[in-house]
Amino acid sequence: MSDMIKEIQRRRTFAIISHPDAGKTTLTEKLLLYGGAIQLAGSVKGKATARHAVSDWMELEKQRGISISSSVMQFEYNGYCINILDTPGHQDFSEDTYRTLMAADSAVMVIDAAKGIEPQTRKLFKICAMRNIPIFTFINKLDREARSPYDLMEELEQEFGIGTYPINWPIGCGIDFKGVYDREKREILAFSEFHRGQDKIKAIECSLDDTEMLDELIGPKLRATLCDDVELLDGAGYEFDIDLVREGKLSPVFFGSALNNFGIEPFLESFLDMTMPPLPRKAGEETVDPFCDKFSAFVFKIQANMNKAHRDRIAFMRICSGKFERDKEYYHVQGGKPIRLAQPQQLMAQERAIINEAYAGDIIGVFDPGIFSIGDTICDKTMKVEFEGIPTFAPEIFAGVERIDTMKRKQFEKGIMQIAQEGAIQIFHEPYTGVEEIIVGVVGILQLEVLEYRLKNEYGVDVRRRSMPYEVVRWIENEDINPNDLNLTSDTKWVQDFKGNNLLLFTSEWCVNWALTKNPDLRLREFNRD
Ligand code: G4P
Repeated sequence: MSDMIKEIQRRRTFAIISHPDAGKTTLTEKLLLYGGAIQLAGSVKGKATARHAVSDWMELEKQRGISISSSVMQFEYNGYCINILDTPGHQDFSEDTYRTLMAADSAVMVIDAAKGIEPQTRKLFKICAMRNIPIFTFINKLDREARSPYDLMEELEQEFGIGTYPINWPIGCGIDFKGVYDREKREILAFSEFHRGQDKIKAIECSLDDTEMLDELIGPKLRATLCDDVELLDGAGYEFDIDLVREGKLSPVFFGSALNNFGIEPFLESFLDMTMPPLPRKAGEETVDPFCDKFSAFVFKIQANMNKAHRDRIAFMRICSGKFERDKEYYHVQGGKPIRLAQPQQLMAQERAIINEAYAGDIIGVFDPGIFSIGDTICDKTMKVEFEGIPTFAPEIFAGVERIDTMKRKQFEKGIMQIAQEGAIQIFHEPYTGVEEIIVGVVGILQLEVLEYRLKNEYGVDVRRRSMPYEVVRWIENEDINPNDLNLTSDTKWVQDFKGNNLLLFTSEWCVNWALTKNPDLRLREFNRD
């Protein structure tokens, strides 16, 4: 087997998703710990001092105390090379999260055992389901009072319409949390003591038949409950089928406590067992085999100011096939030009390391002089494939943005265009009116604050922002329609994006229906495919 094939085969690339506060960061941190990637628990995000260490790229982020950007981390474990894509928890940045999910081969969904499914989990799940990627569920915080595990499983099945399969089962919760029962090994993993530190937990293993030891470890009452549970689970018809897992139709469920470092290693081991190396990706009519020896990748994220001192912009790409070599010349499909990728790097916590090679499944960040857009393909010069684009989701909040200082036109336009290219905002203008104000559409209000902040800090432009009453945007599909001739409610606005596509901004869904009823030929689209 060639080295390249061996390298690709040991790659596992997944995203961690959760509603804020369910414990995603804590779980990530513990996983990294098992990989020996960080010595100190807390380097990802711990208490005050280390908080935001990974994604500390913007003052605003610190001020708001939330993690805005997604980070990518790589570590080694048992011969596997694992790439974790951390997704921002804050709902305003959901679009960024959607894109990150496009780069993952599977997802780990962290759920708070006391809360069950929360709004953000629901949204993220939908995206995973759209791509049929395998979803692994980690039910966290068993060391606190939790809902019944049966309830939680039922909720997952009913809300998400997928099957679930408990790989292990919790024994008690809160102060009575005694560990988990491993259904395959048919033994319990007892919780010896509460660890809040960085050590790997010392779990005690005990067979279900060893009544005496069990009574000592978990007490007769919990032992009795566990025996009933096991009987019930074994008879309940939860069938395990690895193919269904890989098709995203059955979610293996794990119980544990990330903070106490409990249940993490068994989870990681099963997860690695069940997941696959990078899978083929669609590129139009073609399917690109990850093991083919030609390099190909697509840009799923562009991030400015990773490092304030350098004022740089990094394009993150997911390698879909072959091997990346640092000094080789590749082809940028959308730009139609050969290209050498400058400063290729991988990110590990705070550190960035320049890399010489990377393989299918890996994520690399390259210096972007402003030529890449989200969804772009970069590939071997003899290949010329184009990966399917990443859909742009329709913004729901709109504001007019205008520069205060009339002298700063150039900086204003450059800044706003660049930020739009990164995919953080969408921009529109009113055609043929001479109005200079730019209309900005975002998914969450925080993005408007980020825009304002960045225009001031990076481009030196102060802006005035005016909220607008629109909530719905639709692209007009008909090419032969003059939007001025349409019969629309008076509060509907015709705008264009910067590629010249016509759009309509509506104040409500009701107005959309009105437009469709009054203009029977009109065809509207919810997202932009360009
Ligand atoms: P997120 O990335 O999903 O937003 O969640 P994060 O890991 O930051 O965890 C949110 C809070 O939940 C943190 O507490 C964290 O310590 C706590 N937590 C995570 N896993 C567990 C667990 O298994 N058991 C318990 N009891 N708590 C858990 P915090 O007080 O908000 O932050 P911090 O001061 O501890 O960093």
